[in-house]
Amino acid sequence: MASLKGKVATPRGIDGEKEQQMELFPECKIPTRGMFITFEGGEGTGKSTQIKLLSDYLHSIQINNIQTKEPGGTEVGLELRKLLVTGDKDKFDAVAEALLYYADRRIHLTTKVWPALKDKTWVLSDRFADSTVAYQYYGYDKRVDRKLLDELYTVAVGDFKPDLTILLDLDPKIGLERSFKKAMGMQTKETRHESRGLKFHTNLRKGYLEIAKSEPERFVVLDANKSIERLHMDIVQLVKERFKL
Ligand code: TMP
Repeated sequence: MASLKGKVATPRGIDGEKEQQMELFPECKIPTRGMFITFEGGEGTGKSTQIKLLSDYLHSIQINNIQTKEPGGTEVGLELRKLLVTGDKDKFDAVAEALLYYADRRIHLTTKVWPALKDKTWVLSDRFADSTVAYQYYGYDKRVDRKLLDELYTVAVGDFKPDLTILLDLDPKIGLERSFKKAMGMQTKETRHESRGLKFHTNLRKGYLEIAKSEPERFVVLDANKSIERLHMDIVQLVKERFKL
């Protein structure tokens, strides 16, 4: 396969014409855009609760923002989410999963994230591409080739990256217990990945910490074994410092 390095993602496929992307998605390059903050972590780490609290805080200081998630941040994405997070854990392999997560990501970026950022709205996303590396590469024994994941990133995302990624780190035993408890109240059980067992989730946690170490400017790792309020205070402090609010 020819290398995709240096090529960029455009709606017409990989053609390497940067100008075309600039024309169609100038939002990826404009410095005066909204900020893109992603939250990452294993199951039951409290990402969605913390995103909601941060969103409320940002609104209180007049920063327009939206909360979103992967998979399922768009209407089509919700259909993909249903396929991905429910049912038998072995219904497809890690490569098929990575492709589906990237389809969801591409739709999410082009129809929701990039237009919002261009509009100077901040975007808070519950998961992004680091989840694919953590789950489909570090989590599995039969993992997806790492180079393939990097190439998928280039195809679907180009050279766009989050401005800040907050990794909520937690012992998977605590996280899984929280997650299964939450699922008990759900009509459709979104526990396909939870059912993979402790080894998978321990690999996943280690993987996330490695990813964070490899990009220290983008990542901040926070201890998620704290009260909701304490963790929220840590996040507010971090965001204020990082973006000089
Ligand atoms: P969540 O919304 O509860 O975090 O559920 C999404 C599930 O999908 C979660 O188990 C993590 C998994 N996932 C992947 O395996 N790869 C990905 O790229 C993404 C975005 C999520």
